Amino acid sequence: MGIEVKVEGLTKSFGKQQIWQDVSLTLPAGEVSVMLGPSGTGKTVFLKSLIGLLKPERGRVLVDGVDMARSPERDVMEARKLFGLMFQDGALFGSMNLFDNIAFPLREHTKKKESEIRRIVMERIDVVGLLGAEGKLPGEISGGMRKRAGLARALVLDPQIILCDEPDSGLDPVRTAFISQLLIDLNTQIDATMLIVTHNLDIAATVPDNMGMLFRRNLVTFGPREVLLTSREPVIAQFLTASKIGPIGMSEEKDAATLAAEAEQNGGLLVAPREIVPQLDPSPGLGERKAVARRRARVLSMLDTLPDSARDAIRATYALEPTAVLPRAGGAL
Ligand SMILES: Nc1ncnc2c1ncn2[C@@H]1O[C@H](COP(=O)(O)OP(=O)(O)O)[C@@H](O)[C@H]1O
Ligand SMILES: [Mg+2]
Repeated sequence: MGIEVKVEGLTKSFGKQQIWQDVSLTLPAGEVSVMLGPSGTGKTVFLKSLIGLLKPERGRVLVDGVDMARSPERDVMEARKLFGLMFQDGALFGSMNLFDNIAFPLREHTKKKESEIRRIVMERIDVVGLLGAEGKLPGEISGGMRKRAGLARALVLDPQIILCDEPDSGLDPVRTAFISQLLIDLNTQIDATMLIVTHNLDIAATVPDNMGMLFRRNLVTFGPREVLLTSREPVIAQFLTASKIGPIGMSEEKDAATLAAEAEQNGGLLVAPREIVPQLDPSPGLGERKAVARRRARVLSMLDTLPDSARDAIRATYALEPTAVLPRAGGAL
């Protein structure tokens, strides 16, 4: 059911440029999490740090007993096999057809026979909906199909943890909706821990169990999706409503004077959070997502630690399910 990833006090700089500091969070095993953040806030750097390709100066990334930031490279390489990474641009080899691209990690990292490789590759091609396109070159297919091929390649080594870097970038809203459904279906089928980095609001609203946001070199928050979706924190509310009003500016963060002037114009209010829409269900025929029950138990057990607005939203989410039995915890419910 996937493996938990525990990040503790992670700090990363390049020379004098600090990317983010003191980032701590846990990706719950088998659940889907999203990391939001404006462009350039270090989301890709964060993913690369999780798999140990970049080494933060401080903090730890614990995966199955290995610290991806500090453990000996041999252990890090071994633990990296638990991950499947879908790169932002698909990162496919232009001269190889999709089949060979997707087979590449198997040929590189395993000694499997060609017949076994064929079976695995075709199965993953089926999962991402690319059957029939396996003979095509990356240059002959759409951006959406290239993303799917990149995802299929991330899946061939049976990862326990799947990291997706902006699976929506360059896609139109309809293709993005298909990718969102594919990510939920994937989690249903393989029950892996997933982290999706994106600034797409529709993915943020409909896909994750948990969500966080990087801003101003800090993790603003990370927790159950309802925490971010009901947050009145100006930067979160601005981001989730795609508003020009708030701390995020065109090319840099706005100064305090600009912010105060905006707040004045808007009667002291920045932006209201948008309504919570239901999380996507798996496609018909796939059955239940196993993470749902685990996540419900986990979130209900931490209810007392959450802000009121998030608590109300979580209660509403689960009360809507006719079979849901809510525990009575000290009259809080
Ligand atoms: N290998 C690197 N060396 C130096 N600076 C880097 C490197 N990788 C990323 N950066 C810098 O880190 C910042 C965050 O980059 P990135 O993680 O790509 O942002 P995001 O994915 O959120 O758009 C950028 O300013 C970028 O220039
Ligand atoms: Mg990026």
